[in-house]
Amino acid sequence: MSAVLNPRPKIVPGEIVAEGVSKSYGAPQFRKEVVQNCSFTIERAKLTVMVGPSGCGKSTLIRLLAGFEQPSAGRIVLDGAPLAEPSRDRLVVFQETALFPWMTTWDNILYGPRARGELSRETREFGEFLLAKVGLQDFRDKYPGQLSGGMQRRAELARAMINNPKVMILDEPFRGLDAMTKELMWEYYSRLYEENRRTNFFVTTDIDEAVFLADRMLVMSNIPTQVRAVIDVDLPRPRKLVDLVESDRANDIKKQALSILHAEAMRSFSRGSKAAADFVDAYLKRASRA
Ligand SMILES: Nc1ncnc2c1ncn2[C@@H]1O[C@H](COP(=O)(O)OP(=O)(O)O)[C@@H](O)[C@H]1O
Ligand SMILES: [Mg+2]
Repeated sequence: MSAVLNPRPKIVPGEIVAEGVSKSYGAPQFRKEVVQNCSFTIERAKLTVMVGPSGCGKSTLIRLLAGFEQPSAGRIVLDGAPLAEPSRDRLVVFQETALFPWMTTWDNILYGPRARGELSRETREFGEFLLAKVGLQDFRDKYPGQLSGGMQRRAELARAMINNPKVMILDEPFRGLDAMTKELMWEYYSRLYEENRRTNFFVTTDIDEAVFLADRMLVMSNIPTQVRAVIDVDLPRPRKLVDLVESDRANDIKKQALSILHAEAMRSFSRGSKAAADFVDAYLKRASRA
């Protein structure tokens, strides 16, 4: 193989600003508000991690950022221009695998440029570079079914990055992996980020994952979701798991975020149990009348 000096395309990181964004679903009398007057910035060339309880509205926000759906109120801008439709400026990596089972790792990685008719020598070289970065050279001719879960996730990272988006958006991409594989993924992913400094927006429910990865952390409320806190994760890079475990600063950040998430959980629990009590009450009244 020829020595590749600099196969990486120029990176143009974007910045996304969400201003007073709300999203609700359903007919007026059954309206369910999922996102409520939510404002935040996904800063240029930084890794912003959104951490929030399961079901709070994170994937809903991602669909708005990607342009699959429109906000009910407020607006979202990329580099000053309002978002319109989906575009490869903003690529989303989902938890569910998007690899084509009938294509090899290599063909999956090249899929985007090939589909657009942009498969140049530079693109192939960038593909080689990414394949090596995610440690899949020996698996380039294998099919997704022959890869482990972690390898599939790595192939997907490469498959998204080859399109050189202005913003990479990741929706719980490592959910469901076992703990050790997950930690390995954090290392691969953060190295890729550190070397490229593209704008990244990463969504998770896992606080350790958030602290390990983030430059900035957005801690979210329960549904309808809003930003409760923005925490600067000013820990040195490259990060190592062992260092983070022993770092007082990392533990402080984790405690700060956990106390917010705990308060949110208690709030919804008390709301939930009230709803449950009302239901039982109403049910008993009906049962005694019958
Ligand atoms: N299209 C929709 N219609 C009605 N409700 C929806 C729709 N999409 C999401 N929701 C509601 O929004 C809530 C949050 O969902 P989601 O954004 O997937 O949360 P998260 O990703 O944080 O787990 C869920 O309770 C779900 O019922
Ligand atoms: Mg989700």
